[in-house]
Amino acid sequence: VASAGPALAQAAYPNKPITLVVPAAAGGPTDTVARLIAESMTKTLGQTVVVENVGGAGGTIGMAKVARAAPDGYTIAVWHIAQATAPALYDGLKYDVVSDFDHLGRITDVPMTLVSKAALPPKDIAEIVAWMKANQGKATYGHAGIGSASHLCMLILMKELGIKMEGVGYRGTGPAMNDLISGTFDVMCDQTTNTTGHIKDGRIKGYAVTTKSKVSSVPGLPTLDGGVLPGFEVSAWHALWAPKGLPKDVTDKLVSALKVALKDPKVVERFAGLGTEPVAEAQVSPQALKTYLEAEVKRWDAVIKAAGVKASN
Ligand code: MLT
Repeated sequence: VASAGPALAQAAYPNKPITLVVPAAAGGPTDTVARLIAESMTKTLGQTVVVENVGGAGGTIGMAKVARAAPDGYTIAVWHIAQATAPALYDGLKYDVVSDFDHLGRITDVPMTLVSKAALPPKDIAEIVAWMKANQGKATYGHAGIGSASHLCMLILMKELGIKMEGVGYRGTGPAMNDLISGTFDVMCDQTTNTTGHIKDGRIKGYAVTTKSKVSSVPGLPTLDGGVLPGFEVSAWHALWAPKGLPKDVTDKLVSALKVALKDPKVVERFAGLGTEPVAEAQVSPQALKTYLEAEVKRWDAVIKAAGVKASN
């Protein structure tokens, strides 16, 4: 006769694969961060953490799916700054970015880079700015959908420079990058996790970084802040979320597995090669992420309103 003990022990979380939703296409910057974390969490949790790419509408399709999923720890998500910017940019968002989620912990802050297709003539930041100004109406930029990090970055950049270019939307900057390399559109503002290798190999041109400090993976690039756009600062911070209402033991297991992942030498080394690093351990907590997200929602609401940028731009 089976006792309740072993049956309960067997049912302990996690006892089946965990789906890690990436609300953007495979091969892009969020996918890269998520797969590195998933590999490490798989080892720690003893169950496979399977990445599922649910791209489209600047990540809001994937995050809506996560908000509606059962809060049992078998559906979680890695997403980024767009969780904070979606309320200001999207009218009628189907979920509340704060109250419909359990906030597990921040992962990393990823700098962004202004890049172009290799065939574009400009050689430095001054020349690309002049080129974008001279080619308004003709020049095109790629992005990962309304409200995505690449979209937000370019909206602010265009606003600051007083220019307009036509956007070309993708389900993530993975596929957008393929088209930039083949020359389908002209410029993009994308994360170093996606641009570093291609800049180094000369498949695309890099002009500047969006952080206040230079970035070690692309040491030749100046900051926008220190040159053409004083005060300019955008970085695509990433974090781990779950649907609202996880049992406490499940939250604890996921948060400690995330902490282990962010100390995993392979993760740290790969992050460094891509121009980023794990956040400080104190940031890897539900409360720290919730506080950070609330502050970011406020900050971006003000920036987006002041800049007069709308998802429809
Ligand atoms: C973005 O621009 O929001 C990201 O690059 C999305 C992605 O990971 O593809």
